[in-house]
Amino acid sequence: MKTDIDTAWQAILAAAGRGDPAPGALDIGAVLRDRADIDPAAAEMIECLLPLATASEGFVIGQIGQSLDGRICTESGDSHYVNGDAALTHLHRLRALVDCVLVGVGTVVADRPRLTVRRVTGPHPVRAVLDPRGRAPDDVSPLAPEADAPPTLHLVGASCIDRLPAPAAHVRRLPLPEGESGVAPRDVIAALAAVGCRRVLVEGGANTISRFFAEGALDRLHVLVAPLLIGSGRSGLSLPPIQRLCDAARPKMRRYALDEDTLFDVTLSRQS
Ligand SMILES: NC(=O)c1ccc[n+]([C@@H]2O[C@H](COP(=O)([O-])OP(=O)(O)OC[C@H]3O[C@@H](n4cnc5c(N)ncnc54)[C@H](OP(=O)(O)O)[C@@H]3O)[C@@H](O)[C@H]2O)c1
Repeated sequence: MKTDIDTAWQAILAAAGRGDPAPGALDIGAVLRDRADIDPAAAEMIECLLPLATASEGFVIGQIGQSLDGRICTESGDSHYVNGDAALTHLHRLRALVDCVLVGVGTVVADRPRLTVRRVTGPHPVRAVLDPRGRAPDDVSPLAPEADAPPTLHLVGASCIDRLPAPAAHVRRLPLPEGESGVAPRDVIAALAAVGCRRVLVEGGANTISRFFAEGALDRLHVLVAPLLIGSGRSGLSLPPIQRLCDAARPKMRRYALDEDTLFDVTLSRQS
């Protein structure tokens, strides 16, 4: 019988050291020994996700879902959902493989995201909200009190931490150094590493991902392109302008089909 997606996923999770393997689960070595017996979709998933599962500590991946014309939502902020089911499942797999999933405060205000793993088996990551000015509402997910909430970090500027009311029981607030243009992504990564979050998914939104990309703070970027044209609304990545096309970044990249969506798996060279 061919190794299917579920069997391959259990092996990838185990290779990442995330969660207890299901009874009878194969390890990734056993799966790869019989390559001819791997279902093609499972083989693609292994090719795409195993490098992330086995990446060294300090690994940071960004993801952004966008339309063909590079928009992440309409002008009114409607973003549910740009991508299809398979891309959403892929996002949940990324969450399950990291210690921590990070979003900017704009995403919390707009979407109230749960940031948990629900579409696949696997552990929830620690959730983190990057909120240098301390403006995130404390009555919306993931900061609001909730039953069985995964641990959540509220990353705020050192200058505002003392004026904020006490957070919910599952939330730990951490201060970040502030500079003229906000918080440096490398300081965010360092603060997360200091509390044991060494593999990080930066899930959005556009502003947060763009800052991480511009600082060279990402090792990998997953751009999930959906076959729709929104025409206006918020753009995905937004970077400092360049004058000449020859100065454009042309990183190494692989493409994967996720039903109707296309995943661009971009390898970046992180600048330490
Ligand atoms: N398609 C996708 O994959 C995806 C994923 C997530 C979210 N979204 C969408 O993205 C939209 C929100 O995106 P967004 O760009 O507005 O918000 P965002 O990136 O979630 O949050 C941006 C805000 O976070 C703070 N911030 C982030 N990095 C910072 C830094 N290095 N230094 C200082 N402050 C920093 C700033 O807060 P202050 O404004 O307080 O200074 C900034 O305005 C929503 O519509 C959501 O639905 C899409």
